[in-house]
Formats: sequence, C-alpha cells, structure tokens
Amino acid sequence: MVQRQLPNPAELLELMKFKKPELNGRKRRLDKALTIADLRTIAKRRTPKAAFDYTDGAAEGELSLARARQAFEDIEFHPGILRPAPDVNTSVDILGGPSALPFGIAPTGFTRLMQTEGEIAGASAAGAAGIPFTLSTLGTSSIEAVRDANAHGRNWFQLYVMKDREISYGLTRRAAEAGYDTLMFTVDTPVAGARLRDARNGFSIPPQLTLGTIINAIPRPWWWFDFLTTPSLEFASLSTTGGTVGELLDSAMDPTISFEDLEIIRGMWPGKIVVKGVQNVEDSKRLIDLGVDGIILSNHGGRQLDRAPIPFHLLPQVVREVGKDATVMIDTGIMNGADIVASMALGAKFTLVGRAYLYGLMAGGREGVDHMIKILRTEIERTMRLLGVASLDELHPGHVTQLARLVPVSQSLTDAATAAAIKA
Ligand SMILES: Cc1cc2nc3c(=O)[nH]c(=O)nc-3n(C[C@H](O)[C@H](O)[C@H](O)COP(=O)(O)O)c2cc1C
Repeated sequence: MVQRQLPNPAELLELMKFKKPELNGRKRRLDKALTIADLRTIAKRRTPKAAFDYTDGAAEGELSLARARQAFEDIEFHPGILRPAPDVNTSVDILGGPSALPFGIAPTGFTRLMQTEGEIAGASAAGAAGIPFTLSTLGTSSIEAVRDANAHGRNWFQLYVMKDREISYGLTRRAAEAGYDTLMFTVDTPVAGARLRDARNGFSIPPQLTLGTIINAIPRPWWWFDFLTTPSLEFASLSTTGGTVGELLDSAMDPTISFEDLEIIRGMWPGKIVVKGVQNVEDSKRLIDLGVDGIILSNHGGRQLDRAPIPFHLLPQVVREVGKDATVMIDTGIMNGADIVASMALGAKFTLVGRAYLYGLMAGGREGVDHMIKILRTEIERTMRLLGVASLDELHPGHVTQLARLVPVSQSLTDAATAAAIKA
C-alpha cells in the first residue's frame, strides 16, 4: 500500500520555479534552437521563400548535398575510455594564424538578401569568436566594411576569376590593401550550376514583386521592412547590379579559367592562397606540388555539379596522397560539430560552414550567427570529451569509421585497362 499525505505547500512552492519571461523576441527565438536544424526551421519561417530556397537549395536533383550530409551521418565514432579530458582545447593554427575553433565561415554571395545585416553580422560574429570570416566576390558588403566589422580578426577573401580579368585583379589588390590574410580561389564554377528552385521561384536580384512574392511576404513583414528601409542590395565589390541570378553568375564566372590564372593571381597576392572546389586526388596532388598554401575539398555545397564526389569520402584518400602536413580543408554538408570532429580525425586541418552560418543569420542576424557558432562549439567540445580527447591533435583516423552506403558498382569501371577498352 502506498502511504499518502496531504501536499506540503512549502514543497509545492519549491517546485514552482517559473522562469522570468524573455522579453527580447530574438533571444527568445534563438534560445529554442538547440541544433543547426532548429535554426533552419526558424530561418524558413522568417525568410521569404525565394531567398530561403536560394540558400537552402542546391543544383538539379540536390543529390550532391544530400549525399554529403548523409556521409557525415554514416560514420561510427570509436571513443577511448577513462582518458581524462576535463578541459578541451578546440583551437588550431591555420594558414599562418590562430583560430579558436576548427571551422571558419565560408564565402557566400547575396548575403544581405537573406537577412539585412548580412556579411557585417557574419564578420563581427566570427571576430568575436576568434574564427576566420570569408567574404565572397559576390558579397553584398564591401571589402573595407567587412574589414572594419572584424578589424582585429582574420578576414579571408574569395575570388572568382571573371571574364573581365581586370575586375578580379582589382579586387585582389583591394583585399590585400585591406589586410585580408588569405585569398580563396574558387575553381568549381566554370558556369553556374542549375539551381532549379531559383528558376521555379523566378528568383532575381533585386527581388521582383509579383502576386506570389506579396502573398509570401504577408507572414514575414520584418524581412520586408528591413529590405525596404536599408541601403539597396548591390554587390559591394563589383559594379554590376541587376538582372537574373543566372546572368549575374555568368558574368562572374569564366569557363576558360586555368592553372595559368592561378599562377597570375598567386604572383599578385602577398598572403596565403588556397584553392576551393578541389574534387579529386590528382588535382589535389598537382596543387600541393605547385606550392599553394592549402586546398579545400568541396563541391560548393552541392550547388554546382550534381552527383559530384562527396568531399568527406575524398578526404582520407587525398590526405594519404598529399601527405599529412599539407593543408587540406573541407566543406559541404556540415550541420553538426561532430561532422567537424570527424573531418579533423580523418586528416582535415580546417573546415568551413556555409548554410549553417546562413541559417543562423536568417534566424536572428548577428545574434543568430553567434548562436550558430555556440551550437557548433558545444557539439565539438562534447564530442571531443565523449571521445576522450583533450585537443584536436589527439584525434586520429582510428576514432572514425566511414560506413559505405554507396559503393562503386565495380572497381573495374574505373581502372585504366577498362577505361582504355571502352575508349578504344
Ligand atoms: C547561398 C550560398 C551562396 C554561396 N556563394 C558562394 C560564393 O559566392 N563563392 C564561393 O566560393 N562559394 C559560395 N558558396 C559555397 C560555400 O562557400 C560553401 O562551399 C558551401 O556552402 C559549403 O556547404 P554547406 O552549405 O553545406 O556548409 C555559397 C553557398 C551558399 C549556400
């Protein structure tokens, strides 16, 4: 028989600990986000469909992105036990300077379209967290404004070599003069990928008001208020404005760029230079042999060639071939700090996040980016503690097994003899 008594009012009072309501709406919203996926949900609610889809979407069937994310989920971690790690050190040295965390913010174009604070929010949040920020050639804040927003931190500049080479050379000089320490040369965009969501949404820069966009704007008044009451959207580093996204991208991209362009740009750039969008072992070896300071294994977040190689699968092979001292970095599909830890264990020296940053930005401007960094930092630290490692140097391939969901139908399809027979 259970013994019963009258409830004791003092005990009841003890249980009734109501939290003070949070009056700041942005903070209240962000506090509910425990994961990057939660930030995405908030971002989707607050951002007009065309701008959200431009960010969230990828090329064609969006298989590259889905596979890259799946690859991070399809791993098994192998923790060590009884290895005290009361404090974990998440800092790294990358490209001649420190980063408090093993990730930086990837370059993204049109950022003020997603949320009006745009790159300034990204750069200042990165500076406060002690991680690098990368400004895109298609950024919507100027090279100098970003430098001022992150005056004591590290700024990297991403370069598209455009049809009009002089524009690219001019941007390179401006970024050097503004004190950017690293140039990121993107090479996976000879032409724009087919972003079908954008085509279906009739997405253009600046956004066009149609009946659909107006209906879609009704539940998102703040985005439109911001959009209409802040300086108009344009490329702060380029003089081109207006037109469809495809037209803009096509004017920025050039199918004739080659290793020769890399050499010219290298000759002009006083700092570190890295190549972004490397997608096979041979190109990785060639670039490291040429003496670039680093390579980024990336398929542009699945926004260019659909069904491209999964960067995370390429990583161990590339590190094996180029040697563990080469600076191999990786992006595409990172949604969790554990993805970053797994990449570091398999030999990456650094990682970049694109959409995770933009989901944070859309969810809550500068505070949203701070929150994104906090989520990833917490996940990195927790994963390290659970693995029993106190610093990132202690991670090694034995901590991670990549589980293969997709394997080649037959190895022979790629061997030299079969290839020669097919071609003969
Ligand atoms: C909205 C958006 C715009 C982007 N713009 C650029 C760009 O201007 N230059 C560039 O090199 N990469 C660009 N990227 C690719 C990112 O730098 C990065 O490679 C990619 O986002 C990584 O994948 P993730 O989004 O899954 O983290 C863009 C990505 C997104 C999502």
